[in-house]
Formats: sequence, structure tokens, C-alpha cells
Amino acid sequence: MKQLPLFNDDQLTPFSSGQAVVRDSFSHDGVADETARLALEERYRDLFEETDKFDRRTVSFQGNKGQLLHSWIKYREGFSAELVDRLIDEFDIKPCDTLLEPFNGSGTTLLVAKSRGISAVGVEILPNCHLTWRAKSHVFNYDVAELRDIYQQIKLSEPGKASRSFPHLVITQTAFPEEEESALMYYTDWVEQSDFSGSTKILLRLLLTSILEEVSYTRKDGQYLRWDRRAEKVQARNRKREENGKLPIKGMHKGDLPTVKEALLAAMFTVIEDIEIIQQQQVTGSSQQLLQGSSLKVLPTLEADQFAGVITSPPYCNRYDYTRTYALEIAYLGAGEEGIRKLRQEQLSCTVEHNSKVDELRAHYRSLGQSERFEHILQTVLSNPVFKEINEALQIRWERGEINNRGILPMVEGYFIELTFVFAEILRTARCDARIAFVNDNVRYGGEIIPVDLLTTSIAEDLGFSPEKVYILPQRKGNSSQQMGRFGREALRKSITIWKKP
Ligand SMILES: C[S@@+](CC[C@H](N)C(=O)[O-])C[C@H]1O[C@@H](n2cnc3c(N)ncnc32)[C@H](O)[C@@H]1O
Repeated sequence: MKQLPLFNDDQLTPFSSGQAVVRDSFSHDGVADETARLALEERYRDLFEETDKFDRRTVSFQGNKGQLLHSWIKYREGFSAELVDRLIDEFDIKPCDTLLEPFNGSGTTLLVAKSRGISAVGVEILPNCHLTWRAKSHVFNYDVAELRDIYQQIKLSEPGKASRSFPHLVITQTAFPEEEESALMYYTDWVEQSDFSGSTKILLRLLLTSILEEVSYTRKDGQYLRWDRRAEKVQARNRKREENGKLPIKGMHKGDLPTVKEALLAAMFTVIEDIEIIQQQQVTGSSQQLLQGSSLKVLPTLEADQFAGVITSPPYCNRYDYTRTYALEIAYLGAGEEGIRKLRQEQLSCTVEHNSKVDELRAHYRSLGQSERFEHILQTVLSNPVFKEINEALQIRWERGEINNRGILPMVEGYFIELTFVFAEILRTARCDARIAFVNDNVRYGGEIIPVDLLTTSIAEDLGFSPEKVYILPQRKGNSSQQMGRFGREALRKSITIWKKP
């Protein structure tokens, strides 16, 4: 039975708080100085609230499974509609207010805002996220009769020959069985050349994008795509290995893959059902807008003092590369090699491949006539004692051979520098009394724990926010197996930090 997350007005369960855990060590075996991190823990311990009001399900996409509209595309990095609903209530955001979501992803914040008649502005880089938003935000405009008719047309016919090939990137080559790749492109052309309404074409494009993983020899798994051993790419690699006297890579086996037609019909069936239910609901008029580009570039151009709240979750500082995980979708939407490289570099620095964005940011602020402000923001983070301590600790770990990739050092440094600019722009664009919620994970590299929640809170406070709360999720996860082996298992906080613009 599907939930009605969009428009029901259920009473939220009252929250119960538990005992928060304050850390008493950050550097495994005391190799590096941890004084600043310990002091920070002490400084903010009263803000900790270990709560079951938000759990791992609500802060992850899990909470959106089976939910109308939100489940149309599996965006594993998203948070749930329930989380946004609760925070909107907690922040007392009203229909006349406007929310900001600087890392829009699948658009959970914007969609919940729409369902509650609240205006919102989102910012996002990835084209698949933009397509998702365009298709979902049209939910009230679809002609269900037209969709049903198209469903029947697909059901009663077989895909013909495609007139063009899938716009592969090197990293997506041979991701699909040949016949299914051809079917995918056949349906793509068929939709484009049809006389379906504009919004229906967008929806069908989203549906085709949503089934790519399912019909492919890949699976999104952690930081990369995992490949099925039936893919020609894996087989070619194994032939080479065998020529060189190496054992072949076993690779996974996904089992029977659905055909494109089967997957498309199944996805379409669900979506039509959702649309029918949602279109019976009433919503008050409000406006949501998703802006294209990096928050680092876009936020400084937005008007000051407008947002009543921010509900967001940036990429975590964990080497996760969205452009690799969503390579099939980005390729399908035609980014090309140069395009995907650009999308990767524009992402907030969270992989070892990222180059510093400081010069680019300096130039951007100069072009806006805000060089002085740029220097002030940069100095705020560079002079933060915890930021300094972490960079020094990672340098020590690198020199001791305990960090396996030098790129982790500039990644961590860049991550906090860039987030500082995002926070500064949120402070400028938020109204007085606006509340800000950031969902994030703490991380550990080379035995050094990085308290992302508290470091970001202290940077925010240095910029002018009043820190209000650090919700700590009940289950705290251990570290990656690589880290566990060497430095033992560590429970790392997953938190929601809440700040207020005074
Ligand atoms: C954790 S996800 C957000 C998920 C979102 N809350 C949802 O429910 O779907 C982070 C998102 O930030 C986007 N992103 C990364 N760097 C960005 C930047 N500089 N500007 C705007 N968006 C960015 C990523 O593409 C990704 O979609």
C-alpha cells in the first residue's frame, strides 16, 4: 500500500532524545595533535541530541521507497520526504516562505515544499537531477489518458531498429546487452519523433533514464559501478589478464535482466498510478525553481535576505563520485567526455580527482566586485584551528604511509573551503531567524577522525550563524574495511546540524 507523503497532514511522532556520545579521541594512537578537535567537542557538547526523531531510514533514500513520486528515480544519496516534512514543521516554515536547497539532487526538498505550498529554490549540477525535477514537477500537468494510451502502444508493439547508437562514454562502453541497447535507443527516438505533449516527452525520457541501471550489466555500488561478468568490457579485460598469466576477475552476476520494454512498462505503470492519485490532491500555488550550475557560482548571484530556511545534504567528504555512479544516466543524456569531466570538476570537492577551486572562486567574486568578501570568507576557514589541525594531521599520516592516496589531503582541504563559501552565501541570502539544516557524515582517513558536523558548525558560527543543535542519529556506522583493518572499527557520527541566522 502506497503512502501519501505529499499531501497528508499526519501528526508526527514526538521525538525522544537519548544520551549523546561525546568523543574523547580523534587521532588513532595519538599520532597527531587532537587538542582543537577535543576542544570543539567540549564546546558543542550541549548541542548534541541523540534522537530517534530522525533515523538512518529518514536521512537516506530508503525512506522514499514506495513513496508516491519520490520513488520514480532511485537517488540513493537522497534523503527522505519525511525528513524534510519534519524539518519544515520544526522550523515553522509557512506557505508564504521560501526554502533554499543548494545541493538539490533528486529534489526531495523542492517536492515537499511544492506539496505544502511553500516556494523553494534549488541548485544542482547534474543533468539527470534536472531531468528528474522537470518530470516530477509536472506531476499535476500530465494527461493520464495520453499516458495510458502510450502505455498500450508500447505494450502491443515490439521495439524496432534504432537509428543511432547509445552516446557512450569510455566508462559506460558495453554496459548493455546489444539488443537492449538498440531497444533503448529505438524508444528514445520514438519518443522524440512523436507528437506527444512536451511534458509527456519529458516524463518518458525520465522513465527511460530510470531503467538504465536495471537493464544494464552494471550496479551502483559504493563509489563506482560494479560490472557483471557478461559485459564485453569485463570479458575483454579477462582475456588480457589470461594472456598475461593472471587469474580472471570473477565479477558479479546480476541474474536475468529485464528487457527494456518490460522495465519501461513496469516503471510507467507505477508512475501513471502515482500521477492519478496525486492529481486528486489539492495544493496551494507556490513556485519552485531549480537553478543549473554549481552552488559556489550560483549562490553569490542570488538576492540577499530571502530564504526562511535551508534543508540540504551536501556530497559527503568520502570520495564518492556522483559522475561515476550516474555515468549511464549522464551518458544517456548526452554529456560526452568533455561534459562529464566538467560536471565532475564542478562538484564540491569530495573525490581525490578534484583540483582546487580557490582561484576560480577568487575570480568569480572579483567579477562580482566582491574581492574583499572573498578574502574574508577564505580567511574564516583558513584560520579555523580545527581545519588547520586536520590538515596537519593528514599530512603526518601521509608521511607515515598511512594514507593511500595523496589526493585525500587536497580533497579534505577543498571540501571545507568550498563549504565555507556555501555557508557564507546562505548567511547572506537567508532572512533573520532562518534555520539551516545540513545532513552530513563524519569521516576518517589514516586513523584521523574528521568531525565534519562540528567543524562545519564552528565555521558557520565564525561566519555569523548561531549553532542551535546537532542531532545525532542513533546508529553510528563503522569505517571502511580498509580503515578498520588498520585502525580498528570506529563508530562515526551521522548528524543533522541546525544553525540559525541571528
Ligand atoms: C547528497 S546529494 C543531495 C540529495 C538530495 N538531498 C536529495 O534528496 O536527493 C548531493 C547533491 O549535490 C550535488 N552537488 C555537488 N556539488 C555541487 C555544487 N557545487 N553545486 C550544486 N550541487 C552540487 C550532487 O550532484 C548531488 O546531487
